[in-house]
Amino acid sequence: MTLRAVKSAEPAAANASQCCILPSCGAAFGLNDRIYTCPRCGGPLEIVCQPAGPSDPEALRKLWAARGASHEPRDASGVWRYRELLPFEESAPFVTLREGNTPLYSAPRSARYCGLEEMRLKHQGCNPTGSFKDTGMSVAVTQAMVLGARTVVCASTGNTAASLAAYAARAGLQPAILLPRGQITAAKLAQSMDYGALICEIDGNFDECMRLIQELGVDPSIYVANSVNPFRIEGQKTVAFELMEQCGWRVPDHVVVPGGNMGNSSAMGKGFGELLALGLIGRLPKLSVVQAEGSAPLARLFAALGAAAGAVESPIPDTLAPVEHPRTLATAIKIGAPVSWIKALRAVRRSGGSILSVSEQEIADAKAMIGRDGIGCEPASATTVAGIKKLVAAGRIRPGETVVAVLTGHVLKDPDYVSQYHRGVLSLDDPEGAAPPERIHGTFRNVPEHVAATKAAILESLERRR
Ligand SMILES: Cc1ncc(COP(=O)(O)O)c(C=O)c1O
Ligand SMILES: [Zn+2]
Repeated sequence: MTLRAVKSAEPAAANASQCCILPSCGAAFGLNDRIYTCPRCGGPLEIVCQPAGPSDPEALRKLWAARGASHEPRDASGVWRYRELLPFEESAPFVTLREGNTPLYSAPRSARYCGLEEMRLKHQGCNPTGSFKDTGMSVAVTQAMVLGARTVVCASTGNTAASLAAYAARAGLQPAILLPRGQITAAKLAQSMDYGALICEIDGNFDECMRLIQELGVDPSIYVANSVNPFRIEGQKTVAFELMEQCGWRVPDHVVVPGGNMGNSSAMGKGFGELLALGLIGRLPKLSVVQAEGSAPLARLFAALGAAAGAVESPIPDTLAPVEHPRTLATAIKIGAPVSWIKALRAVRRSGGSILSVSEQEIADAKAMIGRDGIGCEPASATTVAGIKKLVAAGRIRPGETVVAVLTGHVLKDPDYVSQYHRGVLSLDDPEGAAPPERIHGTFRNVPEHVAATKAAILESLERRR
């Protein structure tokens, strides 16, 4: 693959723009304006573009399927394969690590655990850096190249940083990442070190890192790669396309994702919305978002809105009350003030889904169950299965419905959590230090045994577990 740095901005696809999503504004801006929120009203931006090339659903399906068998780098990428729906010229200096192309597994034990006849898990943790962030980063770093940026920055709970560091390294750009000190798993930090990023460990939480990013973003040499950047969402929306291909274009009844900063849920909603508008699917899956109880500002708002929560026509509230001291062992989603909450709420409402929260115990047990299916994931991803169990119990998902949970990170992203759960010593400190730590019970624990070095002893151990 050849990467070509473009010195000056190329003319972008003429039919694409960045648009403010707030109905009270709706302002449109050029694709290559370096903006992250609406310069007129401060609202969130999204990319609006007409598909390039064929718009006939059957022709698009055939084209994308054919590319799946090609070894050309853009075709082999699970993002760029869908380039008709991405806002770039053919000549764009695209940056890829063959992201996407992630498996869709059936998960019978997890399904039974939730009270479902069947469940499938779309494992975005099988991306090149081990999380779903890679699909978005491929596109955001490509846009950084188009704009001639030198440095790309992000605030991160670990996965965005690892992904940005890798893609910037591929593109020959300088990656700089802001992390809450002491709150990132060792594996994620090690990845960013290996990819050569400038790592700034900040005394504060993720939300404070995000505030600093907003200040840095005004510097013309710096490009912000957080999911507030609408180009990140363009990359991440492609998982909806890939998922539908894998489902033979039969729409599942429910798609469930974890929620942190809410970029992923926003992107899912956008992806399915575009497929519906193009006639590639005939209805939307119900999109539900699951947060960790101690970091659940949007789930709280959704519950507080009562009957109006899911009503497409009811106005989006002006503000979201943040959680001042977010708390969860699922560090990837330890976020109290999600930047993309408006987009996520809109997407959930349009689809008829829900936003809910689950406890630390529920997350840990669901994660162990996903492991028992031979799949595994990081703690944040397991909120999905925990959330599905709750939705089934509440009658919001019926046992015979088709359900896809999106796993966002690889099991090796947080091995300490895994081994502490299985040894029965997993606990969560109270951030104020006032209450005793919350102990997580190792419900499905699996502890290594000390076994004598004899055949008989090993057979005996096997017999005990049969
Ligand atoms: C593994 C994992 N799952 C879920 C999320 C939440 O995604 P989003 O912030 O887009 O809501 C993150 C975000 O860092 C993550 O790393
Ligand atoms: Zn606006």
